[in-house]
Amino acid sequence: MLDIKITKTTAPKEKPDESKLGFGKVFTDHMFVMDYTEGQGWHDARVVPYASFLLDPATVVFHYAQEVFEGLKAYRSTDNTIQLFRPDCNAKRMQDSCDRLCIPRIPVEDFIQAVKTLVEVDKDWVPHVEGATLYIRPFVFANDVGLGVHASKHYIFCIICSPSGAYYAEGINPVRIYVEDEYIRAAPGLTGFTKCGGNYAASIKAGDLAAEQGFAQVLWLDGVERKYVEEVGSMNILFKIDGKIYTAPCTGTVLPGVTRRSCIELLKDWGYDVVEEHLAIADIMQAGHDGKLEEVFGTGTAAVVSPVKELDWKGDKIFISEGKIGPVTQRLYDTMTGMQWGRIADTKGWIDPICKG
Ligand code: COI
Repeated sequence: MLDIKITKTTAPKEKPDESKLGFGKVFTDHMFVMDYTEGQGWHDARVVPYASFLLDPATVVFHYAQEVFEGLKAYRSTDNTIQLFRPDCNAKRMQDSCDRLCIPRIPVEDFIQAVKTLVEVDKDWVPHVEGATLYIRPFVFANDVGLGVHASKHYIFCIICSPSGAYYAEGINPVRIYVEDEYIRAAPGLTGFTKCGGNYAASIKAGDLAAEQGFAQVLWLDGVERKYVEEVGSMNILFKIDGKIYTAPCTGTVLPGVTRRSCIELLKDWGYDVVEEHLAIADIMQAGHDGKLEEVFGTGTAAVVSPVKELDWKGDKIFISEGKIGPVTQRLYDTMTGMQWGRIADTKGWIDPICKG
């Protein structure tokens, strides 16, 4: 168990208008920080007033991107309990990301304790309005000073929180997705399964080009043949074809999403066949033209469950569910958000309460 020293701010910020939050734009009064020193391990766990870091320009993370992050949310439930959704999954995924980036692991229980301690200190920042949450962003970065390319001996683990609304400007309304045919996000042996900043940096160009044409995000194809669907910019993607649900397997190139695995569990409980196999984009487009592509939706912590209304691949276009949210997508959205906000019973043991709000 961590010994977390808490120093509260003497200058609390003004709270934002909860009806105009956007995503990740404002930050709470405090942050969690812990240091790592080789030979000593993780030490000096603390909650302190939110502030800038003073870093040497030669700090390793600026040059070689030795960094990983996570994303989870705190919800204010109908009975005013502040609660998390499966934080252990985020903690374990962060360990996998750390292993790949040669960053020392943070024990699962320490990660959860750090998140809960910070959220409790900033509990007044957990939004009260429907659909808004406190988005929590844990991250670890290499803090050695020097330009040699090797694993750092010093790291900082930090957690910041941002009261946030919907990730997409569209909210729960269906989005248009561009199937990216030139750039790739991941390839076998690389870092696709981790949440490292570098994956996202490499994705910005394709995302920007797609946005210029009015698409919300890109759908990535596999990095070897550009044939099989993998994931979307900030979410996993699932397809309902002829009654069955298909999604890419998590075999190294796809981010193992917490919302993805939760939706798969729910879908199986509801009696759907869920096929985690490589699925060719050509077959999906064909299913669309044949009227067999019933629903397409993305899943992610930030995006929750997000319907897709259009896919464009090499000039070929398919339109899904007549531009409306499909019944399975809606049921998943209602069930996930219902459990997260305490409107429906948590039959899966996924909710982890922190404190009363
Ligand atoms: C999340 O869904 O929490 C993410 O980290 C996606 C993000 C890059 C906005």
